[in-house]
Amino acid sequence: MTIVHTHTFDAVIVGAGGAGLMAALYASREADVAVISKLYPTRSHTGAAQGGVGAALGNMEEDRWEWHAYDTVKGSDYLADQDAVDILCQDAIDVVIELEHMGLPFDRFPNGRISQRRFGGHTNNETGRPVMRACHAADRTGHMILQTLYQQCIKNKVNFFDEFQVLDLIRVGNEVRGVVAVEITTGELHIFHSKAVMFATGGWGRCWEVTSNAHSLTGDGAAICLRRGVPLQDMEFFQFHPTGIFKLGILITEGVRGEGGVLINGQGERFMTRYAPNIKDLASRDVVSRAIYLEIMAGRGINGKNYVHLDVTPETVNKYFAEDGEDRRITREHIEAKLPDIADFTRTYLGIDPTREPMPIQPTAHYAMGGIPTDVDGRVLLDAQKTVLNGLYAAGEVACVSVHGANRLGTNSLTDLVVFGRRAGKHMAQYCKERPLEPLPTNPAKEIMDTLAQIRQNEDGARPYELRQRMQKSMTAGVGVFRTQETISQTLAELRALREAYKTVTITDKGKVFNSDLLEAWELGCLLELAEVTAVSALARTESRGGHARDDYPERDDVNWLKHTLCHKEAEGPYRLEYKPVTMGRYQPKARVY
Ligand code: FUM
Repeated sequence: MTIVHTHTFDAVIVGAGGAGLMAALYASREADVAVISKLYPTRSHTGAAQGGVGAALGNMEEDRWEWHAYDTVKGSDYLADQDAVDILCQDAIDVVIELEHMGLPFDRFPNGRISQRRFGGHTNNETGRPVMRACHAADRTGHMILQTLYQQCIKNKVNFFDEFQVLDLIRVGNEVRGVVAVEITTGELHIFHSKAVMFATGGWGRCWEVTSNAHSLTGDGAAICLRRGVPLQDMEFFQFHPTGIFKLGILITEGVRGEGGVLINGQGERFMTRYAPNIKDLASRDVVSRAIYLEIMAGRGINGKNYVHLDVTPETVNKYFAEDGEDRRITREHIEAKLPDIADFTRTYLGIDPTREPMPIQPTAHYAMGGIPTDVDGRVLLDAQKTVLNGLYAAGEVACVSVHGANRLGTNSLTDLVVFGRRAGKHMAQYCKERPLEPLPTNPAKEIMDTLAQIRQNEDGARPYELRQRMQKSMTAGVGVFRTQETISQTLAELRALREAYKTVTITDKGKVFNSDLLEAWELGCLLELAEVTAVSALARTESRGGHARDDYPERDDVNWLKHTLCHKEAEGPYRLEYKPVTMGRYQPKARVY
């Protein structure tokens, strides 16, 4: 591989999802900004966030940002940093209105205001009843955010490098100087020389067998930072969304339950009444995913199989509305209007009309609560003392600010993207104004060139897909919805064997042009590292909290474990764990009752 270009910008943003685009939009008002994306920007995974963006607008009933904040902290199982949560919930209101003014086509209530629906864990704090807080554009909210922000960025003259994949970060001491990327269509390497770099590269659900995540979600940004001396925070907390299409994992939005849909087991029971008597199917995701798993394990899946039903047919929904004393009723037309993509997915992939039949679902690996540690301005932090790595930023799912703690509430991912993307973009612009462009080090692409050359040269080793399947199977069995010391240890042993096997991973395409074989092999290296960090962090945490459910330590242990994990990759040994305190605020930990 050869270097054909060196580009210079004030700021480089890696990833063109909601966080990357929001940051680019704000940074580009004062700085020269490039966005580098391995996809065409509007294909980014933000587009898969369906049901809504959380903001306490109170458009149909009373709501307050403080209630949103309390729900977020409670949902996080008290691991979220409460200063960041306050910013999230306060800024959410303003940023949703800003998106509306940019032209985002939100659904409307009859009074003309932005339409809001119920979502898991979002409540009226006084009654404990679900509150309408998810502002939505049908079930295409993330997609509409992407389209809106992309148009605004084009208008604002952001420079886009589409189908360029970033492979390395250029770090000199305590400062960053840019990134190295491959132009996918030509296979040629490009240096992007800049004062500031931001990663907004999304998650790594592809570590597991059944996932809602696109094939592109391979954790590139997190793995690159880990290799360049940045720890990863709270990696043991990975969210399983309760409702993925059985076997395929494709997301069926929580908005289905927000519109009244219910979960039904093989005995025809609405089983969530046992697990969350107050808000039932709208409990937080960790609670609902575990409930589904326990029903299946108890032999109460549909026909004894590994799935349950999600039923949004008007007959079923209206029956439970009546039982619950709700004075609303839904129709088939309402479902078609509010959930058009879901209706389309289930017709296409399952041959099921959700207005007439229930949908087969199972929990699906969905969202990383952990990631690159940042402060509330997106600045990347290197240790428990919160030392800043100058010029490096992260936002969105790849970052851990931390507003989601041990479990994220639905809709708060989109809120996180736009709120903290905006803050990071503003901060980057200011940073770039104050800093000169420092020179590049000698041959900044050498390491990644050697890595790629090694993969090309390997012969007779395992194929990437073989190693990937073994990793996904092992992560699902050992570090899934439930885990124990024994299962995590077995997975760790397998991951260490895979790490060895990866050294000789062998590809068949040795060419340059559009070499997805080579890049998928490189991405597999990222996934393997993130899987190992997840397992190492999970093994150490001897309690159950949010998305980390240890069968051998079933209780939350606030005395010993109300703290964030930081996992460092060390030169002399694979990983070192460090812990840092949670930033507390108005809410002290108590038992979570839904
Ligand atoms: O269920 C959903 O629509 C997913 C949204 C989210 O992950 O926040």
